[in-house]
Formats: sequence, structure tokens, C-alpha cells
Amino acid sequence: MYALKNQFLLSMFLFLLYCAFSFTPSVILPHMVNYVQDPSVPYWHGILYTVFAVLTSILGSLCYYHSQWQSGLLGMKIRTMMMAAIYRKATRLPKGSGVNSGHIVNLFAGDTNLIFDGMPQMISGLISPIQLLGAVVFLGFYVGYYCLLVVVVIVLAFPINVLMAQQSSKLRYAIQQKADVRLKLTTEFIQGIRIVKYYAWEKPFLKNINSARDGEIDRVRSLCILRAGVMFVIGNTSSIALGLVLLFYGLWGGKLKIDEAFTVIAIMNNIRLPLSWTSIAYLLYTYNKASIDRIGAFLKRPERTPYVFSDDSRPVGSISIENADFLWTSNEPVLKNINLEVNPGEKVYVVGKVGSGKSSLVMSLLGEMPFSTGSVCVTGKVAYVPQQAWIYNATVRDNILFGSEYDKDKYDKVVTATSLLTDFKQFHAGDLTEVGDRGMNLSG
Ligand SMILES: Nc1ncnc2c1ncn2[C@@H]1O[C@H](COP(=O)(O)OP(=O)(O)O)[C@@H](O)[C@H]1O
Ligand SMILES: [Mg+2]
Repeated sequence: MYALKNQFLLSMFLFLLYCAFSFTPSVILPHMVNYVQDPSVPYWHGILYTVFAVLTSILGSLCYYHSQWQSGLLGMKIRTMMMAAIYRKATRLPKGSGVNSGHIVNLFAGDTNLIFDGMPQMISGLISPIQLLGAVVFLGFYVGYYCLLVVVVIVLAFPINVLMAQQSSKLRYAIQQKADVRLKLTTEFIQGIRIVKYYAWEKPFLKNINSARDGEIDRVRSLCILRAGVMFVIGNTSSIALGLVLLFYGLWGGKLKIDEAFTVIAIMNNIRLPLSWTSIAYLLYTYNKASIDRIGAFLKRPERTPYVFSDDSRPVGSISIENADFLWTSNEPVLKNINLEVNPGEKVYVVGKVGSGKSSLVMSLLGEMPFSTGSVCVTGKVAYVPQQAWIYNATVRDNILFGSEYDKDKYDKVVTATSLLTDFKQFHAGDLTEVGDRGMNLSG
């Protein structure tokens, strides 16, 4: 996070510059109006004002968009960091931790994305109060203490904003929880699409997914209504404030000349935008907080404690398990009182009935299986070839090399030793045949 500090500061600084430039219309308007009204003002003054107005407007928008771009990048980096942390955590959760896959998918895709999306608004929301304050002070020069009415209106509208933002945050949290369930169902549906189609189970599956969506959609609808309410309050606060300022100023005998009136309206623009940015930023902050809390709670979950140790005094390639018990979920161990000694170079076959615990034994060596007592010592690296193949979308040769460099002699030795040559003959382009996603055109 520390590495992102500079980008954050740059984005803030650019936004601050943009805010400063946004005041130029208010400064320059009275001069322009004066120039138009008074023929004695020299011609070049008019040109100067126009050039100044155009230049500051261009510079202002450059600063604004560059700040948004920087904050977007910042959001993207934070998002990537969070995704990496979630991924790392997901691989370290113990068996039976009760986290459903939909929750993890949603943390990845939904929650981190909200944070990424909200980043530019967070930056503008942090700076806007300064702009707002500047605009109120500026207004004070024209209408005196009546400018404080703007502050009064904002303060009165504030609790309404807070209340609605809190409500939205609660809804957002509930929506994400519902989305977890829906995502779990849709992921299962897509993963098992073959079985679903074979047995024509589409309808019951769709019914399940739809009922999960119903609860979600109701809340999304409520959230949209609430959001519309927030926008209504945000949009009207500044108009009400301007109306009140002018009303009271006029009632107590205040008079604005035409150039002053233009300026007051220009200043009101400087109040309207930052006011809505601050409110929107607050709203997004409450959303993001819901997501950050979810991610935080996930990252704080207990992890599997590593129990496989490496003993450097033993030769590389040796395995030793002593009096160990391993269990999956219940308290009853699946593997009880295991003692196993394997020396380097030895070939060991494990034979047993289905469900007797052969795969579990391999899992115990990988440190994947919950462990209760004893000791497990594996010296050297472990390579695990699971029963279920994972094939990626490339040629058969690429799948065998799996990222390693092609060394013809070594490759030929490996494919001969594994008797793959006869299999290659069945493919139209030998080992250069393309295999589809998830190995769709391979069997067995
Ligand atoms: N990932 C798992 N989670 C919970 N229980 C499991 C898991 N894998 C296997 N088991 C249970 O452990 C026991 C041994 O299974 P397993 O090791 O797969 O046997 P084998 O490979 O010899 O057929 C079975 O009762 C099985 O239900
Ligand atoms: Mg097995």
C-alpha cells in the first residue's frame, strides 16, 4: 500500500489544481460583463479575458482527466493486490471451513470491482470539501453573511444523506450475500453443464437460480430507489441554498449589480459540483466499506497450520510419517496411526479398496489434509499428478511441455517412456494437434 502513496498524492494534487481552475469563471465573469457594458474598456482587455478563460478551462480539464486517470490506475492496483490476497487466502483455508465457492468468486469479481470503480470518486470526494469551502467564502464577498445559509442548508441535508447512505450500505451488503448464493449455483450449473444437459435438468436448475435471483433483485430495486432519493437530495440542496441566499439577501435590502449576479450564479456552480461529489463519495464509501469488511472478514479466517516439515539432516527424496492421524471433517480419523518410511529412489505402491484412504494418504503428504497427531517429514520437492487431468487450450506438445523449453532428445525420451507415441498416431497432426479448452477432444 505504501508504494501507492505517490500515485494517490499525485491524483489529489491534480484534482486540487482542477478545483483552483474551476474558480476562474467566477473571477473573470464580472470583468467580462463590465467589458461588454462599458465601451471605454480597451479592446485588448476583452481578448485577454477570453484567452484567459479558454486557457484555464483547458488546463482545468487536463488536470481533471489526468487525476481521474491516475486514480483509476490506483484503483486497479489496489484491486489487483486485493485479488492476490484473496487468492492466496483461498488456497490456505482448511478443509471444511464452510466458505462456499460463490462467496470467493463474488469477492474476486464483485467486491474488488466496486472498490476499483469507486476510486476516482473517493479522490474527488476528499478534495471537494476544500472547493466547497472556498466557494462559500467567495460568495461571502458578494452577499456577506448570507453565504452562511449555504452551510446551514448543507448541514440540514447532511443527516438525510447519512441515513440514506447507511441504508444503502446495508442493502449492498445483503445484495452481495445473495449474489454469493446465486454465483455458487451458476458456477455449479456451468461446471456440470454436460450432466445437466444429459439428464435434462435445466428447469429445476433454472428454478433454483431464479429463486436465488429473486431475493437479490428485490434488494437491487430498493437500492436503486434509495439511490434516486440520494441523487434528488444532492441535486436540490444547492438550488435550495442559492434560492434562500438570494431571497434573504434581497429581503433585507441587498442589491446585486448585473455583473455581481452573474458571478453569484457562477459561484453556485462551484458549490453544486463539489457538494454532489462529496455526497456521492460518501455514498460510495459506505458501499466500499461493506465490500472491504467482507474482504477483511475473509482474510481474517483461520488458515491451515502447516504440518509437513523438511528435515535437512535426511537425504533429499525421503519421506517419513510417524504415528500420525489424519481426519477430514469429523473427529474420527480416516487414516489412523500411520507409519511410513520411504527412502530416496524407492518406488512405493499403495493398494486398497475404494474409499480405504489411498488418495487421502497422498493428500497428507501434500499437507492438504487436516492433521491431529504425529509427525510428517518430507525432504525435497513434491510433484503431484492427480487423477483428474487438467489440459489447457494448446497443442498436445505444449500440454506435455507445460511451459518448459522444447528439448528434442529429452522430449522424445519422455514420450517413449510414457508410451505416448501410439496415442499420437491417432491424432491428425500427431503431437501438434490442438486440444480444446478443458481437453474437450481428448478422452481417457
Ligand atoms: N476431500 C475430502 N473431504 C472429506 N472427506 C474425504 C475427502 N476425500 C476423501 N474423503 C473421505 O476419506 C475416506 C477415504 O477416501 P479416499 O482417500 O478418497 O479413498 P481412496 O482414494 O482409497 O478411494 C472416504 O471415506 C472419503 O469419503
Ligand atoms: Mg482415490
